Amino acid sequence: MDKKPEKSFKILVVDDNPKNIQVIGTILREAKYEVGFAMDGKQALDMLQDSPDYDLLLLDIRMPVLDGYEVCRIMKRDDRYKEIPVIFLSASHETENIITAFDTGGVDYVTKPFNANELLARVNTHLQLKQRTLEVRNYALELEKLNATKDKFFSIIAHDLRNPFEGILMITRPLLENLSSWSADELNKQIEMIISATESGNKLLENLLIWSRSQTGSIAFKPGDLYLESIILRCIDSIRAQAKAKNIRIDYNASTKIKVKTDESMFCHILRNLLTNAIKFTRNPGTVTILVEKITGAIAVSVIDTGIGISVSDKSRLFRIDGNICSRKGTQNETGSGLGLILCKEFLDRMGGTIHVESEQGKGSRFTFTLPET
Ligand SMILES: Nc1ncnc2c1ncn2[C@@H]1O[C@H](COP(=O)(O)OP(=O)(O)OP(=O)(O)O)[C@@H](O)[C@H]1O
Ligand SMILES: [Mg+2]
Repeated sequence: MDKKPEKSFKILVVDDNPKNIQVIGTILREAKYEVGFAMDGKQALDMLQDSPDYDLLLLDIRMPVLDGYEVCRIMKRDDRYKEIPVIFLSASHETENIITAFDTGGVDYVTKPFNANELLARVNTHLQLKQRTLEVRNYALELEKLNATKDKFFSIIAHDLRNPFEGILMITRPLLENLSSWSADELNKQIEMIISATESGNKLLENLLIWSRSQTGSIAFKPGDLYLESIILRCIDSIRAQAKAKNIRIDYNASTKIKVKTDESMFCHILRNLLTNAIKFTRNPGTVTILVEKITGAIAVSVIDTGIGISVSDKSRLFRIDGNICSRKGTQNETGSGLGLILCKEFLDRMGGTIHVESEQGKGSRFTFTLPET
């Protein structure tokens, strides 16, 4: 006999003969199935309407009011029930009607008088088949979603990559044609623009590369014991010059002796992007504060700025690649790829963490990411 599936399944037995109902009920209950009963087709449909979560129907063919074929036809036309497998119960002299049973949408049949092992084997097989079909369908849907996300992502990248290249070409062609007529000042300005466009394209490519490596699993998650204090101070050091150039003070309560077990390079990547954003979107002078707190079951790191803030509609697009990517220039025209936060979210998903933002336009933003406490 087939092995019974692990999950507890619910089976509706429909037969106008109380004796059959009793026999089948006993067999199924002993096999630990949940069982419902109906004495005719109409009652069966009423019961399905009340609880459409039945996993399988055992359906007699000859019944008063509504026969088994008709019940099956109605079920297969109804989106709520069409996925429920129907096994017909047929008397041995009715085997010639079995073709009709399959035509109406039945998946199998058992003949009376019932053999307990055969009945259970058929029931188990179809329940398992239904479960596997559902799993395959969910898997296919998941793949479809992932593919659509990737397509969207690459189309955005292809579009955004054109901008810096077009910018560079627009500057360099006329520059070369009339090189001798440009003053040193003008040349300086043009070269600055070329550098800015190149940096922006380079950043985009760099982020794309990290994202695609992360998607293909080639960025390993390597957790280690991190002492937040030293690692945060190192991140601050790496952006200090940027902050100083915009007259932005960095505040950090360095007394926190908190340790987490996580991937150091992912942690630094996330914090650096949040700090760079805070500086980029804060006017001169301003303040960026880093706050580390223990919350229930997690460590929360917040980067709070006194900057320009984010609109409600932009907020909903920050961490997603399946829509238009949110990207704007900083308060001093600093460029970016618009992928920084998407990568932060990608890494945090792998680190078992979360990220969210609170922001008010004109007042500032607070980005908080959490990591599981160890
Ligand atoms: N602290 C902040 N204040 C205001 N807006 C912000 C802040 N952080 C992010 N944003 C908004 O979210 C967008 C996306 O940020 P994200 O870090 O993903 O990309 P980016 O900074 O534009 O590019 P990159 O990270 O590649 O330099 C920014 O362009 C900006 O519009
Ligand atoms: Mg950024």
